[in-house]
Amino acid sequence: MEKLFHSLAASLFIAFISLFQLVAAGKGSFDDNFSKSCPETHFKTSEDGQIWYLSLDKQAGCGFATKQRYRFGWFSMKLKLVGGDSAGVVTAYYMCSEDGAGPERDELDIEFLGNRTGQPYLIQTNVYKNGTGNREMRHMLWFDPTEEFHIYSILWNDHQIVFFVDRVPVRVYKNANYTNNFYPNEKPMYLFSSIWNADDWATRGGLEKTDWKKAPFVSSYKDFNVDGCQWEEPYPACVSTTTKNWWDQYNAWHLSDDQKKDFAWVERNLVIYDYCKDTQRFPKLPEECWLSPWD
Ligand SMILES: *[C@@H]1O[C@H](CO)[C@@H](O)[C@H](O)[C@H]1NC(C)=O
Ligand SMILES: *[C@@H]1O[C@H](CO)[C@@H](O)[C@H](O)[C@H]1NC(C)=O
Ligand SMILES: *[C@@H]1O[C@H](CO)[C@@H](O)[C@H](O)[C@H]1NC(C)=O
Ligand SMILES: *[C@@H]1O[C@H](CO)[C@@H](O)[C@H](O)[C@H]1NC(C)=O
Repeated sequence: MEKLFHSLAASLFIAFISLFQLVAAGKGSFDDNFSKSCPETHFKTSEDGQIWYLSLDKQAGCGFATKQRYRFGWFSMKLKLVGGDSAGVVTAYYMCSEDGAGPERDELDIEFLGNRTGQPYLIQTNVYKNGTGNREMRHMLWFDPTEEFHIYSILWNDHQIVFFVDRVPVRVYKNANYTNNFYPNEKPMYLFSSIWNADDWATRGGLEKTDWKKAPFVSSYKDFNVDGCQWEEPYPACVSTTTKNWWDQYNAWHLSDDQKKDFAWVERNLVIYDYCKDTQRFPKLPEECWLSPWD
């Protein structure tokens, strides 16, 4: 995904067209907060500018990124994924400290892995620190994400990273808080989304190939919402000094009782893959696997 975004960014950055200026007053327009990197033909908005459509065909994909970087906060957006036969197509929605696959990047990933008609989508999440990832989890969803918009959110503070689907916590990643532990908390991140072809690995391990006769593949976005700290130089910006930042405060350092119930249900029913249980791949499990999501 980063690779695609990078090459598109390098070659295909297109100036914003006047359409984006026609948005309803007050709600803000795409280019207030985002830049895109795709051919004009691959990015469209609804007439009022509030829904965005990214498309993928054999020639190109499409991606966008926030203009601002953030360090800690609540990051949320509604997505509706490519319907029908979308095997091989991946819609990525992620935060990253760089707009490329740099060797020192931090990243928080949600990837939606397309499937053949009628077969379920999976979501894959991952955490990178300083260029290293390998922290994958995969979950089933409890609805068809191609039929309607659903909310996908990330809570990020110095204590935990929580991935939410419709406000249900599906993954909790804790900070062990010792020097150089595997927890991205120093580098501010942009928020990105992109749609790309990953039929070399995504669907059933790459067995299912993208059917280009079904192109273009389109994913839709609306209601971007950030409640967080916009990064400003110099470091250390975004060190919380107020109690106004709920996402940084004690109650956001761990799941609430209601969230724990939801999370227990997810853990019982929806987990397909958890790197912390993959002792074949990791004879010695990464250390953060010993941290409890319940604390
Ligand atoms: C979006 O852009 C507006 C205008 O530049 C800015 O005031 C606002 O803080 C931005 N919002 C976010 C969430 O970055
Ligand atoms: C981050 O990664 C780079 C490149 O792999 C390495 O040179 C550097 O020492 C790492 N930094 C830390 C703090 O681990
Ligand atoms: C991490 O440990 C340091 C030193 O003990 C402490 O000051 C800091 O508040 C801790 N941070 C978190 C996120 O627990
Ligand atoms: C696609 O559907 C198949 C069959 O139900 C399933 O095994 C697989 O996990 C699904 N998702 C992906 C990304 O392969």
